[in-house]
Amino acid sequence: MANITEISWENFEALSLDEKKPYLQRGGGDTMPYHTLFAQQFDRDLLERLCALSNRIRFINKSKEGALYLKSVLAHKRAMLYFSQPSSRTFLSHLAACQLLGITTGSVRDAATSSEFKGESREDSIRTFSSYFDMIIMRSPEQGLAEKMAWELSNASRPVPILNAGSGKDQHPTQALLDIYTLVRSFEEKGGLDGRTVVFCGDLLRGRTVRSLSYLLTNFKDVKQIFVAPPALRVPDDVVASLAAKGVSYEITEDLKAAVKVADAVYMTRIQDEWDESKGESARIDTSRFKFGAEELALLGPDGAIMHPLPRRDEIATCCDRDPRAMYWRQMRNGMWIRAALIASTFGLEKEIMNCGY
Ligand code: NCD
Repeated sequence: MANITEISWENFEALSLDEKKPYLQRGGGDTMPYHTLFAQQFDRDLLERLCALSNRIRFINKSKEGALYLKSVLAHKRAMLYFSQPSSRTFLSHLAACQLLGITTGSVRDAATSSEFKGESREDSIRTFSSYFDMIIMRSPEQGLAEKMAWELSNASRPVPILNAGSGKDQHPTQALLDIYTLVRSFEEKGGLDGRTVVFCGDLLRGRTVRSLSYLLTNFKDVKQIFVAPPALRVPDDVVASLAAKGVSYEITEDLKAAVKVADAVYMTRIQDEWDESKGESARIDTSRFKFGAEELALLGPDGAIMHPLPRRDEIATCCDRDPRAMYWRQMRNGMWIRAALIASTFGLEKEIMNCGY
């Protein structure tokens, strides 16, 4: 078995994502992640297990007795929510997921209120949190920080798991999990997710949710991916290369209407202008053809799903909001369930909750 305490940071960092994967598992025969850092840690078996556990938690939580049972399972644990980038849903749904499982939480949402302001490094701050908490849920603008901390904390005197809630422009694995859970639920009684066509539209270059979800979709059979973006915001080469390497069928286009006609799900994204390198860079890009409105709604099939990680600006017109195919509200609630499932699994409670009497 790969043991993260037996590899140097330099050697670990140099591994491919597939090679890193076994170092991040719970171990003892369980392939579930201990540290959740990137989407490549999840295969179909794990996705199905997490969706099943989410369903189970959702069901158990319906009765008072069930909800009180769930609140007891991790009542002896504490989690730190360390968000050094803005967040509404990811922060609140992780908080709610912790509350569902009885976990006590602490949070830092602004480096200005922590010792980072006094010049402490992020590494030292995170090490400090690990002295007081049993899990760190973190969002950072720095691409490799969650991974570095996972290695550091596994090799520290008090190892605690890291859950990546968004790392730079790179990955957002728990968002992709909730997107998969939403897709699985949307197509549950309509023949499943295999064989579907998923359209990604918007800022595909800098949207970390796209990279993570695009990868997770490759775990399903014959799911075609269509990427629709202005030339300046095209899907990055690494995403396309990993699809090509896996023999997944994909298309790159600027024609949203044509894509919507053949789509089972349309995943809209916001222009991520917080990453602009010069003032007004994004504002100069013509994004008018990359919005979902009444015309696109009319072209989408009756079983289609309209998705968005949110927050939205004007990528989806509000006239779509009450359409039964608008799944973006459901994505938010699904996020709470699957994050609770992931946290419970990280602490080794998957079987116990699946088999409990509620
Ligand atoms: C996304 C994020 O922050 O990466 N939102 C989210 O987590 N729900 C996408 C975004 O901010 O556009």
